[in-house]
Amino acid sequence: MRGVKILSTGMCVPKYKLTNEKISTFIDTSDEWIVQRTGIRERRIVTDETTVSLATNAAKEAIKDIDPLEIDLIIVGTVSPDQMMPSTACSVQAEIGATNAIAFDISAACSGFIYASKIAIEAINCGSAKKALVIGAEIFSKVVDWNDRGTCILFGDGSGAVLYGETDENKILAFDVGSDGNLGQTLVLENQPINNLFVKNEYSPSFIKMDGRAVYRFAVNVVPKSITKALEKAQVNIDEIKLFVLHQANERIISSVAKNLGVDINLFFKNLDKYGNTSGASVPIALHEAKGKLKNGDKIVLAGFGGGLTWGSMVAQW
Ligand code: COA
Repeated sequence: MRGVKILSTGMCVPKYKLTNEKISTFIDTSDEWIVQRTGIRERRIVTDETTVSLATNAAKEAIKDIDPLEIDLIIVGTVSPDQMMPSTACSVQAEIGATNAIAFDISAACSGFIYASKIAIEAINCGSAKKALVIGAEIFSKVVDWNDRGTCILFGDGSGAVLYGETDENKILAFDVGSDGNLGQTLVLENQPINNLFVKNEYSPSFIKMDGRAVYRFAVNVVPKSITKALEKAQVNIDEIKLFVLHQANERIISSVAKNLGVDINLFFKNLDKYGNTSGASVPIALHEAKGKLKNGDKIVLAGFGGGLTWGSMVAQW
């Protein structure tokens, strides 16, 4: 089996900062409520950016030290693409000139980056790629109902990218991933309904629907178990982990996971105060911003969870 390591990272967020105060001017909420329940203070939302442009800019930063022709595989985790076809990954491929790559999107919501990383790393492990670019890119500002205070305050737009490459000494130590479709209806983003010769449905654009409490319970239950399983597979003791980079959904979820694992909360990276929940983009954005804290050889845990329901944890060495 060929070894894999993280070669580089990149990120891109829209220019416009939407603060809690600004949201409070058009719906019945307050900065105090949002900060207390979620830890979020502001989020970025697009003005002239697109899912492809955010993903392309994050990708360009991650691949700035290599020739794009060296990239064999591009996977984008997104549930908010600009269009279903061509895929976001194919559009990014064209933008960065990675003409030797195969490119496709996957749909695993806020676990999208971890799922895509697993696919990319296994492709390198088995020799079908040497360099793989994994991107999480989302524009949730177009899929939330701006009249629903229970959801619109949570999400933001952005993209993060990680370049993985083949290496002699393997630095990706283990994964634990899972899905539970039975809980799928707790977090839903509908697509266009069927309209064909036989079936007629009314179509009106739909927005994210969420049972916030159920999703919260799911996250605080499944994430510590998943991290523990991944650490067991990696044969790494939790005390050896220098940094935990979790999906940035809610500060209270991160605190609960830290408490459940018996780990100091200061070892959990947080930037959700600035960006909110950027779904599939949140883990690679957080990793990009956290990397200044990491030294060569440091062991880290990345973890995502969300729609599907899906979850995934990865243990790696920087
Ligand atoms: N501002 C002010 N009040 C709000 C509000 C807002 N933005 N959103 C909801 N409320 C109100 C509700 O209307 C409700 O009022 P009521 O008691 O008069 O009916 C009250 O606050 C409690 O609502 P509830 O939904 O039970 O709050 P909560 O404590 O569960 O917090 C979330 C809501 C969304 C912050 C919380 O459930 C959560 O973070 N869940 C996880 C969601 C998530 O991370 N999803 C993405 C996963 S990838």
